[in-house]
Amino acid sequence: MTTAEELIARSNRLGADPKNTNYAGGNTSAKGTATDPVTGQDVELLWVKGSGGDLGTLKESGLAVLRLDRMRALVDVYPGVEREDEMVAAFDYCLHGKGGAAPSIDTAMHGLVDAAHVDHLHPDSGIAIATAADGEALTTTIFGDQVVWVPWRRPGFQLGLDIAEIKAKNPQAVGCILGGHGITAWGDTSEEAEKNSLWIIDTAAAYIEEHSKAEPFGPALEGYGPLVEAERRTKAAALAPTIRGIASADQPMVGHFNDSEVVLDFLASEAHPRLAELGTSCPDHFLRTKVKPLVLDLPATASVEDSIARLKELAVGYREDYQAYYDRHADANSPAIRGKDPLIVLVPGVGMFSFGKNKQTARVAGEFYVNAINVMRGAEGLSTYAPIDESEKFRIEYWALEEAKLQRMPAPKPLATRVALVTGAASGIGKATAKRLAAEGACVVIADLDLVKAEAAAAEIGGSDVAVGLAADVSDEAAVQAMLDAAVLAFGGVDLVVNNAGLSLSKSLLETTERDWDLQHDVMAKGSFLVSKAAAKVLIEQEMGGDIVYISSKNSLFAGPNNVAYGAAKADQAHQVRLLAAELGEHGIKVNGINPDGVVQGSGIFAGGWGAKRAEVYGVKEEELGKFYAQRTLLKREVLPENIANAVFVLCGPDLTHTTGLHVPVDAGVAAAFLR
Ligand SMILES: NC(=O)c1ccc[n+]([C@@H]2O[C@H](COP(=O)([O-])OP(=O)(O)OC[C@H]3O[C@@H](n4cnc5c(N)ncnc54)[C@H](O)[C@@H]3O)[C@@H](O)[C@H]2O)c1
Ligand SMILES: [Zn+2]
Repeated sequence: MTTAEELIARSNRLGADPKNTNYAGGNTSAKGTATDPVTGQDVELLWVKGSGGDLGTLKESGLAVLRLDRMRALVDVYPGVEREDEMVAAFDYCLHGKGGAAPSIDTAMHGLVDAAHVDHLHPDSGIAIATAADGEALTTTIFGDQVVWVPWRRPGFQLGLDIAEIKAKNPQAVGCILGGHGITAWGDTSEEAEKNSLWIIDTAAAYIEEHSKAEPFGPALEGYGPLVEAERRTKAAALAPTIRGIASADQPMVGHFNDSEVVLDFLASEAHPRLAELGTSCPDHFLRTKVKPLVLDLPATASVEDSIARLKELAVGYREDYQAYYDRHADANSPAIRGKDPLIVLVPGVGMFSFGKNKQTARVAGEFYVNAINVMRGAEGLSTYAPIDESEKFRIEYWALEEAKLQRMPAPKPLATRVALVTGAASGIGKATAKRLAAEGACVVIADLDLVKAEAAAAEIGGSDVAVGLAADVSDEAAVQAMLDAAVLAFGGVDLVVNNAGLSLSKSLLETTERDWDLQHDVMAKGSFLVSKAAAKVLIEQEMGGDIVYISSKNSLFAGPNNVAYGAAKADQAHQVRLLAAELGEHGIKVNGINPDGVVQGSGIFAGGWGAKRAEVYGVKEEELGKFYAQRTLLKREVLPENIANAVFVLCGPDLTHTTGLHVPVDAGVAAAFLR
C-alpha cells in the first residue's frame, strides 16, 4: 500500500465510527517519500485531508499533497500569531504538482508536528475533557504524561507550532487534548497513530463512564419528560411550520427533526436551560449550530397554541441577542452579519429542529448538537461544562478564512431550500415533475397510493436528503393530514405543492355510473381541495409564501367526447386555481394551473385502459395514440411528462414571481382549448 492509500484506509476506519469524530470533522495526515518527476530524486511529502471533506468517505482526491521541506520552511517567514492567517495562502506555494484538494487551516499542525502520522479528531469523549472547567487537571489524572493539555487557541499556524513544541518537549506523549476543541494524536506508523487516537478516545470515554456523577444534567424537570411517540410527532408537526418560519426569517432554510432519546433526555433535565445558553464549543459544532440554540421554555404538556405564541416571542429575543453578540465583537474588518435566526430549536418533550441551506446541512447541524449534548454530559459528569469564550466563538464564526470558504461555495440552485410535495408522483407527469424539481435543488416528497411505488420513485431521484416517498390517498382527509405531517417532519415544512394525483375513466354520459363520477371527483376535485387546504395551513404558518400548482387538463375547457365526469372534475380543479389564487394572495401564496393534453408516454392513465378507450373513440391504434395526438396539435409535437414538469418549474421558479391565477396550456397547441 502506498502512504496515501494507507492514510485513506486509516481515515475511513476512524471516520466510520461516530464516537471518533463528528461528520466532516477532524483531519489526518501522513508524511513519506515519493519521486519528484522533475528531478527523478526522492522528495518528502505531506498528504493531509483537505478542506471540507469527511474522514469516513475520504478518497485520494480529498487529500492535499505538500512538499514537506517547503511547508516547514514557512516557520522562517512566519510573521507571528497576529498575521497567522497569511500562512494559509502560503500553503499554495508548498504544493506538490497540482496539490490535490485545498489545504485546510489544520495543515500546519500536521506538517509541523514531528511524527510521520498525525490524527486530529473531534470525539465527544475527548471534547468533554477539553471543555471541562478543570480539563487540564483531568488530562493529567486520566492520561498521566502520555497526553498533554494544550490551552484553547483558534486553529491555525500558531496552534501547529504549539503542538509541535509539545511533542518535542514530551517525547513520551502520544497526543494532546486541545482545550475547548478536540484531540490530536500521532505515531511513527499509521497503525500507531490510529492506536493512539483510539486509546485517547476510549480512555476518556471509560473514565467518564466510571467517574461521572449519576445525573450529569441534574434531576428530571417535572412536566418536561418526552410525550409518547404519536403525540410527540403530532405536536412536532403542528409546531414545525412556525419553527421553520422562525429559522427562515432572514434566509429560507430546510429543516430536520430529531426526537432521539439523547435529545429528549437532555430537554427533560433541570440543567438544560443553563447548558443550552452556554452553547456549543468545538468550532465545527458551533459553525453549524450557531453559538446557541433557541429553547422553548414551556413544559411538554403546553398546548400547541401556547407553544407557538411563546416561540414567536422567544424568536424576537433570540434575534436581538444575536445582533448584540455580533455588535459586541465585530470590528470594521468583520464580515457582515449572516442572519440572526436560530439553527437549532429545542422543544421539551417533543425534540429538536435543526436547519440548514439544504437537508444534509440541516441534518448534520442536528447531529452536531447531539455531539454537543454528549460533550456537555461528559463534562458536567466530571466537572463543569466550560465552552470557549463568546469572543473566541465570534473570531471563528466571522473569521475571514471562514467567510472566504462561504464565498467560494457554488451559487445555490434555483429551488434550493424549497420543499415540494407532489401528489400522484409515483408515475407519469407527477414523477417527471418531482424529478425536475429535485434537479433544480428542491427537496421532494412523493405521495401516491402505493407506498412501494412512491418509495421507488423517491429512490430513483436520490437519498432521503433529497426525496422521500409516502403513501396517501388524497381523497381521505385524515390521510392528507398525515401526509402533510410526514412531509413537514421530513424537511421542516412545505413550500410548493403540486396537485397532480388523478385518474381518468372515458365514458359517455349514459355509461357513467355514480361511482365513476364520485371516484373522479373525490380524487381530483375533492382531493386537491383537501391537499390545498392542509398545505395552505402550513404555508400560512410558515409566513414564507409558497406555490400551489394544479395539474388540471385541456379537458377543463374543451368539451371532449365521452368525458363528463373527468372533464367536470378537471373544470372544478381549474376553478379552484382562481378561487385560491384570490384567497391566498395576501399570504404570498401563488396558485397556478397547467392544462396538459395527450401525454401518453409514461402515463398510467393511458396504460390503464383510458388509452385504449380514447384510441377507439378516435379510431386509431392504441400504440399510435401519441402520434395521433401530436398530429392534431398546432405544433405537431407529442407532449411528454417532462414538458409538464418544465412548466411546473417555470411557474414556481425564480422568474415567474408575479404571476398567480394563471393556467398554462402544455398541449402542443390545441385551438379548441385556448383560454379566452
Ligand atoms: N396524461 C395526460 O394526457 C393528461 C392530460 C391532462 C391532465 N392529466 C392529469 O395529470 C395528472 C397525472 O396524470 P398521469 O398521466 O401522469 O397519470 P398516472 O396514472 O401516470 O399518474 C397518476 C398517479 O396518481 C395516483 N393516484 C390516483 N389516485 C390517487 C389518490 N386517490 N391519491 C393519491 N394518488 C393517487 C396514481 O397512483 C398514479 O401514480 C392527472 O391529474 C391527470 O388527470 C394528464
Ligand atoms: Zn478541529
